[in-house]
Amino acid sequence: MKMVNLAGQKVLPMGLGTWHMGDDTSRRSLEIAALQAGIKQGLKRGVVAVDTAEMYGEGRSETLVGEAISSFVRSDLYLISKVYPWNASMDLLPKSLDASLQRLGTDYLDLYLLHWTGNISLTETVAAMEAAKKAGKILHWGVSNFDTADMQALWQIENGNHCVTNEVLYNLGSRGIEYDLIPWMQAHQLPLIAYSPIAQADTLGNHLLANPVLKEIATNHQVSVFQLMLAWVIRNGETLAIPQSSQVKHVLANLAAMDLELSATEWQAIAKYYPKPIKKQPLDVL
Ligand SMILES: NC(=O)c1ccc[n+]([C@@H]2O[C@H](COP(=O)([O-])OP(=O)(O)OC[C@H]3O[C@@H](n4cnc5c(N)ncnc54)[C@H](OP(=O)(O)O)[C@@H]3O)[C@@H](O)[C@H]2O)c1
Repeated sequence: MKMVNLAGQKVLPMGLGTWHMGDDTSRRSLEIAALQAGIKQGLKRGVVAVDTAEMYGEGRSETLVGEAISSFVRSDLYLISKVYPWNASMDLLPKSLDASLQRLGTDYLDLYLLHWTGNISLTETVAAMEAAKKAGKILHWGVSNFDTADMQALWQIENGNHCVTNEVLYNLGSRGIEYDLIPWMQAHQLPLIAYSPIAQADTLGNHLLANPVLKEIATNHQVSVFQLMLAWVIRNGETLAIPQSSQVKHVLANLAAMDLELSATEWQAIAKYYPKPIKKQPLDVL
């Protein structure tokens, strides 16, 4: 298992997503237990990334994460949150950030992301991110849902190249970014954060669970197809996957996928069904 290097901070390649967590109060204790079990298990191996956003339940996810992490040592965690594009201005970003920090019960984020591109100029957003960094409220900033042209535009802006990552949809059924975005990021030494790494439990239309080759390889390794999908996402050591689960057993299974090793023949068999793109594809977003 290779750790992922996010601007000098090494984190486990399997983190914890939190979208929709905190929305249903009757599931609250299960969700907190799932996050805490994942953090506890992950900490045996290294720093655990937790991904949230002001958007998730309009702050409810951050509040839930804040409660779940309160008994852990802050520096053992790598906390990621995101700002709405319409809040990513000089005036509003500091307010959004302060509110996120308060909900999370911390005084800094490891990583703050622009959730997607919006109407506020990137120049202003970069300046606001840099100011937040100077204020010590974030250690680094990055972007999310940026395609190659967006990254190129960002690199044209003063301090735009201080961006440390791009969080995008990436799973076995959605390899489009391998055509140009991943090569661009690799050339600029930017690790990737992969969201929806198990295609929202295979509900995004690719019918991965039904694939006989995936089933056979998973069975041979005594893992689930979901674990196989996660091992595939983190296979190059430069990608942080952030699967979301509200179930302890799923969270632990997802972390165990960090140790799954496949032979070259198995990787090839998978690629036969799910080939690398040979032309530009529009960025998949949720
Ligand atoms: N930046 C962005 O724009 C953006 C967009 C989407 C997502 N994200 C981030 O990425 C995270 C992950 O993406 P996602 O939530 O869209 O989808 P995902 O992680 O691909 O799938 C989540 C679903 O998979 C199920 N699941 C998880 N592990 C499982 C396992 N081992 N076996 C069976 N089912 C399993 C979960 O249900 P159970 O609770 O039943 O396990 C949940 O329904 C989000 O939570 C969020 O933090 C970011």
